[in-house]
Amino acid sequence: MKPTNFFGVAFITLSFISVILYRQYNYYAPNYGNSFLRSIATSKIVGRKSYNFCYKDKCKTGKPFNLTQEFVRVMDQLRRTTVDDDVTQMVFVTAASANHFTESLDSIGSIQKHFPGSLILYYDWGLRPAQRRQIQAWCDVTLMLLDLREFANADRSQFYVWKVLVITHALLDHPCVFWIDASIRIMSSHVTGILEVTRGNGGFAMFGAVGKVHSTFAVTHHKMYEYLATDTRMQTLEGHFQSGAVFLLRSDFVVNEILQWWLLCAMHSECMTPITWSRCDFTKGRMTSYANCHRFDQSAINILASNAFGFIPLMYWAIGGGPIVKVQRGHTKQFNVSICSR
Ligand SMILES: *[C@@H]1O[C@H](CO)[C@@H](O)[C@H](O)[C@H]1NC(C)=O
Ligand SMILES: *[C@@H]1O[C@H](CO)[C@@H](O)[C@H](O)[C@H]1NC(C)=O
Repeated sequence: MKPTNFFGVAFITLSFISVILYRQYNYYAPNYGNSFLRSIATSKIVGRKSYNFCYKDKCKTGKPFNLTQEFVRVMDQLRRTTVDDDVTQMVFVTAASANHFTESLDSIGSIQKHFPGSLILYYDWGLRPAQRRQIQAWCDVTLMLLDLREFANADRSQFYVWKVLVITHALLDHPCVFWIDASIRIMSSHVTGILEVTRGNGGFAMFGAVGKVHSTFAVTHHKMYEYLATDTRMQTLEGHFQSGAVFLLRSDFVVNEILQWWLLCAMHSECMTPITWSRCDFTKGRMTSYANCHRFDQSAINILASNAFGFIPLMYWAIGGGPIVKVQRGHTKQFNVSICSR
């Protein structure tokens, strides 16, 4: 082949591939509506704020986060509308991209079974048009479009960032949010455990199995502690909770002690995603050794919750009344989605 021919063929092949990629991208590109937060890079920075952590008689200050105009506006609105106790208005919030859509059928079906009539907000993280149409027919489910493209990363860590943004967005309109990943199944309608733990604690609950599977220290990159200061020794002692299901009330406590820092960390990739996702290596143990992995939003919320509750997991662990949530990956067809209109 003559060099000119070679370049000609290469050019045509590359053009062809880029057309395919472009079409794929457009096909998957969500038709997002409003953008409620903007990334640090594209917004006016209006101040700095550091996380302060005091435990016993020691205090530590984290590296400062940049505050953007939109962040301040969102926080003002949340703070103006905080509630003391409004768990009756609980909404379920979830999200999925096209490849997790079938997995979410089970999670939606499980909510509809145990909480019939409860509103479910389903955020579109890049669904196909046919999937969106299906969702619009489901009982009590509202399809939510939110422009989060400014927070897109090259790796899958963007979804952990998007989750924090989505929970914040939902809390602006709803005083009480029960976040459920597509891999979570609601197993019972007995919310006793949630009510018991949230009644006295400012309105926050996490979920997890009995027994310490591993510590937060094991699954958290040290750069996160630079922003979210904590007692790292205490982080080696307590168990780590899943963030596949999290319950948050729009209370002063949750907004000021947990949500704002979770969101600031999500808006600063040095805090939330210092490394990319990898499997944890627990060969050196599950509590006191770093397992060479990082759990993004889950690491952050575990640090924030343990700090806020003085390392007493029973203060926010919704365990009473038996397990209410279970992790079950894939489409297991244990639950059917209820359909209300076509
Ligand atoms: C905050 O903004 C300043 C410049 O405006 C920048 O140098 C710094 O890296 C930013 N900090 C973070 C944590 O993003
Ligand atoms: C779901 O629906 C299918 C088809 O109608 C039915 O065969 C199946 O038993 C249902 N599953 C459950 C868990 O209700």
